[in-house]
Amino acid sequence: MTAETRLDTVRAVRWHDNHLELLDQRLLPARSQFNAYEDVDEIAQAIRDMVVRGAPAIGIAAAYGVVIAARRRFSEAGAGWREALESDLERLAASRPTAVNLFWALDRMRNVIDKLGADDPEPALLAEARCIHEEDIAANYRMGELGAALIEGGDLITHCNTGSLATGGYGTALGVIRSAVARGGIGQVYADETRPWLQGSRLTAWELVQDGIPVKLICEGAAASLMRQGKVSWVIVGSDRIAANGDVANKIGTYSLAVNARHHGVKFMVVAPTSTVDMNTPTGADIPIEQRAEDEVLSLNGQSVAAEGAGAWNPAFDVTPAELVDAIVTERGVVAWPDGEKMARLMGGR
Ligand code: MRU
Repeated sequence: MTAETRLDTVRAVRWHDNHLELLDQRLLPARSQFNAYEDVDEIAQAIRDMVVRGAPAIGIAAAYGVVIAARRRFSEAGAGWREALESDLERLAASRPTAVNLFWALDRMRNVIDKLGADDPEPALLAEARCIHEEDIAANYRMGELGAALIEGGDLITHCNTGSLATGGYGTALGVIRSAVARGGIGQVYADETRPWLQGSRLTAWELVQDGIPVKLICEGAAASLMRQGKVSWVIVGSDRIAANGDVANKIGTYSLAVNARHHGVKFMVVAPTSTVDMNTPTGADIPIEQRAEDEVLSLNGQSVAAEGAGAWNPAFDVTPAELVDAIVTERGVVAWPDGEKMARLMGGR
């Protein structure tokens, strides 16, 4: 299958000429611009500022960040590179708190670091970062097949951006939508605009238009009325962290969609690689939820959209309890009506 027949032409993270390049997602859809990174602090800042965002893409960018940090530490400290690298790993880990893929990717890089000697660490670390990147794309293709097989037609609603822009490529929830569209037989794809950062209207719509997939945007507030019309079969979302009991953290607004879906008899699918499953976090209540600046709610494109003097509450994520989820789709298989026991089975007792 070619990228075109797979409806998969967009990439946001790439290793090019010995440095990291990130498609600057703050500028989309107006401008498509890659920024080059050769400094680990700039990569941590790019994650914090959402130049790169989406749980798997954050993990992949951080893995390449470790390669860049190790190169510098080796050139400055020689055999002492490993000790010097520790503070870089900590700064990357402090960039965003909710997406567990960040910590998972740093752990994988740390496992390689622990096995290396005093020689140049870059080749082995670059091989691992590339592997994390390629495995993510492969997982997305697999989840695309597994998730699309659950869809028998009807309209689909998705939230936030979970596509090539949010992952190594293809996407999680958006990968399932790509695969379902490629198979045929589904109705309209609706994307929530996803206030306040507008991942839906700025990113998901852009990405789907690039690949020729028809999309209609809705304001979050329109989702319940749309479901009531009876044509929506599935709400399909990604995740930033899935707790051991199957509770799911994802972009703020996901929980409202899940409540509305259950009320209207619409099924609710979460698509995430096992790198998003955190068996060390018992329940959704234990997931750290990132609070972002009030200004993201109070203004749009630098223009104030709120009465002067108003404050804002701006959690970036919410938690959907497992009992509202019909299926968690991972590259290892589908967990229907997730609970602690089924998640433990999926993760092999880990
Ligand atoms: O704040 P963001 O844009 O990083 O949030 C992204 C999401 O919530 C996605 O739904 C999630 O990371 C899954 S993406 C494959």
